Amino acid sequence: MTTLKTSVLGIDFENPFILSSAPPTAKIESLDKAFTLGWGGAVLKTITPDNLEMIEASQRYATWKMGNKVCGFENIELLSHLTVQQWLDGIKYLKQKHPTKVQIASIMAPVIKEEWQKLVKTFNNSEVDAFELNFSCPHGMPEKGIGMAIGTNPEISAMITGWVMEVAQKPVFVKLSPNVTNIAEIVKAVEKAGANGFAAINTVQSLMGIDLDTFEPMPNVNGKTTFGGYSGISVKPIGLRCVAQIRQNSALPILGMGGISNWHDAAEYMTVGADVVQVCTEVMVNGYAIIGAMKQGLLNYLENKGFNSPADLKNKAITNLSAHEKLPKSKQVYPHIDDELCVKCAKCVTICDESEHSALALTNGHIEVDKEACVGCSLCSHICPKSAIKMG
Ligand SMILES: Cc1cc2nc3c(=O)[nH]c(=O)nc-3n(C[C@H](O)[C@H](O)[C@H](O)COP(=O)(O)O)c2cc1C
Repeated sequence: MTTLKTSVLGIDFENPFILSSAPPTAKIESLDKAFTLGWGGAVLKTITPDNLEMIEASQRYATWKMGNKVCGFENIELLSHLTVQQWLDGIKYLKQKHPTKVQIASIMAPVIKEEWQKLVKTFNNSEVDAFELNFSCPHGMPEKGIGMAIGTNPEISAMITGWVMEVAQKPVFVKLSPNVTNIAEIVKAVEKAGANGFAAINTVQSLMGIDLDTFEPMPNVNGKTTFGGYSGISVKPIGLRCVAQIRQNSALPILGMGGISNWHDAAEYMTVGADVVQVCTEVMVNGYAIIGAMKQGLLNYLENKGFNSPADLKNKAITNLSAHEKLPKSKQVYPHIDDELCVKCAKCVTICDESEHSALALTNGHIEVDKEACVGCSLCSHICPKSAIKMG
């Protein structure tokens, strides 16, 4: 019998879909609703010491849209506004009501050993199942020397991980930033310092746009902005790449995220190393109820592939990632045009002409391929609005 159940470091997940630390996990009532609807767990909105100042800006968001479709958000939101005691009470309430749901405490503190250890000790004595160390928030916090300022520095990342590991009585995942030149460096430093696993990615540092009448940037905070964090479906290729690179450099468990909007995205993350996946922006855009289709879709896929559980999918694609020089380059593929699907729009001809090769022509109502000129790059197949071109 195929199941969605999976286990990571002794923590049992009834399904591998959990909410990431963000607005959907900022309130106890919201978490209650999400668990009732079927999410396997949640990483709580990042908890900080009560005395860490958290003054939010208005506006906090800008969006990247194609028509009405949200491709991504930029946000400049800060961290949780609940006190430590409110979280402790909420976590207890949620564990009583939803005992099978996994709760992970995301935490962040100033770079002071006592502050990190105090937070960890406090939540050691709570019902949370694990910790996630937020070393990766790209806005607001780096100015205070925390968030991404930690996660872009291997020495500081290792030092804080070490402090946490001295006292943590639950598994510790370190949440990494994609905004680094070499993620492997951070992965190795943090693993050496004793971390039990990784979470990735946090948001991608961004500047959404500029109003060309006023020259005010977005999100517009009374005429000014700051660089923010980009999330949602358009960051998936970046998240997938980071998770794959973490897996190439470590065998520890990974909570993968970034642009996951359906079961298919989630499955792809698992093939490059994710044990469990997290979702934020898609839930904000389309609601907690998307979990139903995600679970059913993944279950169907696993069944059809003859897999017993998500664990069987883990790392399946990782050995297919290689250095460019080691790619099997001896064989070239060519476009095959399905005349029944082709509407002769000639978009493929234009892209091929303007992108160097001029290997396609619309001749006598048919797209002809000049095999001498074609380099098998595949651009034509991606631009075709009718999926009438297959490479082979
Ligand atoms: C509005 C907003 C607030 C967020 N706040 C946090 C946070 O407090 N802590 C954290 O670790 N990540 C935070 N994130 C990052 C998400 O947890 C997640 O890593 C990122 O959005 C990528 O996933 P997604 O593409 O599914 O949204 C936030 C993201 C958004 C959009």
